[in-house]
Amino acid sequence: MSSDTVRLDRMGEDIDVLVVGASRGLGREFVRQLLHCPDVGRVWAACRRPASLTLPADTPTALLHPLTLDVTDEASIAAAAAVLEQDSNSLRLILNVAGVLHTPEGMQPERRLADVQAEHMLWSYRVNALGPLLVAKHFSQLLPRSDPAVFASLSARVGSIGDNRLGGWYAYRAAKAAQNMVTRNLSIELPRRYRGLLCVGLHPGTVDTELSSPFQANVPEGKLFSVERAVRQLLAIINALGPEDQGSCIAWDGQRIPW
Ligand SMILES: NC(=O)c1ccc[n+]([C@@H]2O[C@H](COP(=O)([O-])OP(=O)(O)OC[C@H]3O[C@@H](n4cnc5c(N)ncnc54)[C@H](OP(=O)(O)O)[C@@H]3O)[C@@H](O)[C@H]2O)c1
Repeated sequence: MSSDTVRLDRMGEDIDVLVVGASRGLGREFVRQLLHCPDVGRVWAACRRPASLTLPADTPTALLHPLTLDVTDEASIAAAAAVLEQDSNSLRLILNVAGVLHTPEGMQPERRLADVQAEHMLWSYRVNALGPLLVAKHFSQLLPRSDPAVFASLSARVGSIGDNRLGGWYAYRAAKAAQNMVTRNLSIELPRRYRGLLCVGLHPGTVDTELSSPFQANVPEGKLFSVERAVRQLLAIINALGPEDQGSCIAWDGQRIPW
């Protein structure tokens, strides 16, 4: 085992993990690193087009299980959960990575109020806020009643209301703030039934993916992370989570993000 192999040993042995939004960017890297993790039994990689998920040639893919899932299509979420209900009895980690800031169809983060478009606002809510909620609705019932488990959603510092000093990005900021409320609500309700469950939001930092690529020019030197580094940092945080983290939003460096 190499010294930088990620571990999830706080959640047990041979655990199943689910990555939603696995096709590109951070999601694909979560899948890659989890396939190398000695504590993981199976990696369920859910995305809109599983055929588009390509991994480096040296990735051990025997434990990879692609699933078709669109977070804006509840029937597809229910169908994917039904597959796991049939084939998995050790789901311990649910990772919501799917997110949207801009689309090839023309959705762009708003610079000013005049840029706001109702359809873009609603689409951001559907993917960034409603997506994690529906994933929780259908997959949480597969979690263990008392063993340690984690439900984590990729959030963003710009979703913090208290930290907002720049303005702009109405749809993304508002949808990530809504996602944070969803995570907080889940952290209150779900542990009543799943006593070992921790629900958190995670901010990965600014990471070199298609999502951030149009906005990287002003990122300070050393603050644009590779996906490899960002995912390694977040998996270390997930493995170290404790009861004091329940319902919070945690940045890549372990700091709490204010609501
Ligand atoms: N990169 C950053 O600097 C940064 C910073 C803060 C937070 N984040 C958050 O981190 C997460 C991952 O971002 P990223 O940088 O990896 O973005 P990315 O490279 O643009 O990847 C976005 C992922 O979300 C998936 N997705 C979008 N709409 C979906 C839908 N309707 N159903 C299922 N999957 C869908 C995409 O799948 P398709 O291939 O099907 O489109 C893709 O796998 C997001 O939640 C983002 O808000 C990123």
